[in-house]
Amino acid sequence: MQSFSTADYATRFAGKSAMIKRPREITYFSYDDNHELRHDDSSLRYYYTPDLHTDLSGGYNSFIKHDDSVDEHLDSLLEAIIELEKKENKCVTEGVHFVTWRGMVTKLMTVPYMEDGFEMNAVFHNGTIYIEENNQYKQATRGFQDERGARMSYWGYKFETLSTLSKPWAEASREEIENRDKEVVNNKAQYCSIVKTGFGSCSLIIAGEVDAIWDCKPMNTSNPINYVELKTSRAIQSQSQQFNFEKKLQRFWAQSFLLGVPKLIIGFRTDNGILTSVDIRDTQSIPSKMKKVHMAQGLGPPPWDGNVAINFTTAFLEWLKSVLAGQSGLWRIRYKQRGREIEVFQVQESGYAGVLTDRFLAWRTE
Ligand code: A3P
Ligand code: MG
Ligand code: MG
Repeated sequence: MQSFSTADYATRFAGKSAMIKRPREITYFSYDDNHELRHDDSSLRYYYTPDLHTDLSGGYNSFIKHDDSVDEHLDSLLEAIIELEKKENKCVTEGVHFVTWRGMVTKLMTVPYMEDGFEMNAVFHNGTIYIEENNQYKQATRGFQDERGARMSYWGYKFETLSTLSKPWAEASREEIENRDKEVVNNKAQYCSIVKTGFGSCSLIIAGEVDAIWDCKPMNTSNPINYVELKTSRAIQSQSQQFNFEKKLQRFWAQSFLLGVPKLIIGFRTDNGILTSVDIRDTQSIPSKMKKVHMAQGLGPPPWDGNVAINFTTAFLEWLKSVLAGQSGLWRIRYKQRGREIEVFQVQESGYAGVLTDRFLAWRTE
């Protein structure tokens, strides 16, 4: 067992942020309404301002919900890499140290400030470390979701349906725009962006769901893409609600930062799920604006620091890279709730334990 200490993070990882590279999209894929993989952008949605005062519970009983207890490993991300390599006729993981889902790096970035634990699986193959969530741990620690919890989770998906169109607004019909509140909410469909990015000396390929785009994809692929991340949150009416919101904002910020999503759109709602306002924020300026508000209102330091999150993640990834380089078998990355360290240990001496698919392994040896 080897471990990376998370203690004294605020002083150890303070200061200017480590070298980071702007994420650049290398490819993308969609899941259709049946959650079947498509190597295209058919499930990309287009932002269009939602109508305020809408009840986010509308259509709750006809929600088509994806069963997320099934372990999907890195399967579709690996398929997308194969597809891209066929097209470009080169190995896209050459010189890349890590391949993973965005959710895993979000968990790392929030370690200094969140109390939740996690477990991940990692394997090393041809110079690259592949990381997935340990699904057994995820299922075992998943809390019981009561009726209100299920409804609140629905509100998030309903807000996505109310705020987006299937086509850019100029091509969408009046009907589609006006009937968004009647559309059946289905979270099986998803659009995922795959980016190449960097933390310090580590190069990463990260894939994650993108909720929508502000306008449409640029013709020139080197231009930034105006993706948006949609969130819902309780309307803020007290200082303790403000504080809770700011804590959650770290995860929102980290998620969007990792894929280079420039805008975060928050639908504020009442306790009963009525949409009351929509707030548009620039991802990049979230940490500095939060600091300014705290200074101006004499609220003391904000609950988290973006540079600390980036520096912590950089230091951890650089350490992990050195621990796992050249290793065989399955490794576990474990952080216990309110822990003081991230532990890394081997759980299986050989094989790839389903982290890499047979198809991907066969493709690599071709
Ligand atoms: P909100 O974030 O607005 O609550 P994402 O924002 O990451 O795109 O996720 C979309 C929605 O999925 C969330 O909307 C929420 O409704 C639901 N969701 C995501 N993670 C969840 C979790 N761990 N438990 C319950 N619902 C979740
Ligand atoms: Mg989403
Ligand atoms: Mg979202």
